[in-house]
Amino acid sequence: MRLTDCHNVEDFRRLAQKRLPYPVFHYIDGAADDEATKRRNTDAFADCDLVPNVLAGVESIDMRTTVMGRELAMPLFLSPTALQRLFHWQGERAVARVAERFGTFFGISSLGTVSVEEIGRTINTPKMFQLYIHKDKGLNRALIDMCKAAKFDAIALTVDTIVSGNRERCLRTGFTSPPKLTPRSAVSFAAHPKWTLDYLFREPFNLPNLSGHVAEGTNVALSIADYFNKMLDQSMDWKMAEQIRADWGGEFCLKGIMSVADARRAVDIGATAIMVSNHGGRQLDGSRAPFDQLAEIVDAVGDKIDVILDGGVRRGSHVLKALSVGAKAVSGGRLYLYALAAAGEPGVDRIVGKLRDEIERGMKLMGARKVSDLTRENLRWR
Ligand code: FNR
Ligand code: LAC
Repeated sequence: MRLTDCHNVEDFRRLAQKRLPYPVFHYIDGAADDEATKRRNTDAFADCDLVPNVLAGVESIDMRTTVMGRELAMPLFLSPTALQRLFHWQGERAVARVAERFGTFFGISSLGTVSVEEIGRTINTPKMFQLYIHKDKGLNRALIDMCKAAKFDAIALTVDTIVSGNRERCLRTGFTSPPKLTPRSAVSFAAHPKWTLDYLFREPFNLPNLSGHVAEGTNVALSIADYFNKMLDQSMDWKMAEQIRADWGGEFCLKGIMSVADARRAVDIGATAIMVSNHGGRQLDGSRAPFDQLAEIVDAVGDKIDVILDGGVRRGSHVLKALSVGAKAVSGGRLYLYALAAAGEPGVDRIVGKLRDEIERGMKLMGARKVSDLTRENLRWR
């Protein structure tokens, strides 16, 4: 199976599984407990159907949308995800360049493996920094200052990782950052020599935005669960979120909002966007899917704040459904991570291009000339 055999996210997922040592693959693919929420995040889109309108004159359509004051060329963007250097040596650089090529938001994680400074300097597309609030207050301040200096467009404060979800695949594989060689994982590393050589002999693994402050994750190997539970500040509350927004002073998003009550509070503290998200099912298993929860959140705050649907998206039709319910834009992680792991930048380019084409083709077949033509009128629930 090669790059050109991959036509959708699932094809790239299969190729990623072949190319990655199993602890790394299962870190990406896995989720919490029974992974029911992860499955539901995608299955939820099948509970409604698109109802097309025809004869709409769709020779040229407009896929632009505006999120947090930034115009995006398409209504899908790339959510911040950690540790990309472990998935492919090109890491965030590849993902950022693809986002730039497609004119969409690039999100970089606090646990990113390229510096915010470099991304700010080299990438010319809207950029979002995903903030984890650490117990180390100096680090929190430094991260916000870093984003200001690099002229990032937005900060997304992740609010659904107050403790780590129970990721049983990671417990079984012993996945850590940086990866540890155990007798079992060594077999998997040896069976994937290309990945292993790239890991060992290219630029060393690093978490440059954190490593001046904490050794954990860079020089001290830690599971992601231990990282969350030891390093992040569990006392984080609305007051703290409001203070962070004020310290930052720019476009501010809360990532991981699921209830209407919290969506209203996000408006109250001056957030300019929310990502309706359950962290790709990696945190609270049994929690509702973003798509199931989208309509009531859009009804409550959609006229006051940008509502972004994040999670479970694997097809352009999923994007069309979320836009029809009222999301301003849609985002996802695994949809580009499998492709990054499978094939680096050409992989990410190919899958984002495929999804973009699916959205465009879908809009034409729906008779939608612009994003705002998609409304709940175009949807029927089964
Ligand atoms: C994530 N996600 C995530 N979110 C975040 O706020 N900070 C982070 O560092 C990460 N890291 C991360 C790593 C990996 C491997 C995955 C799969 C996900 C969550 C991510 O931003 C997004 O919310 C989910 O990926 C959405 O679900 P889908 O699109 O993967 O189904
Ligand atoms: C994850 C992180 C790091 O979900 O947010 O693994």
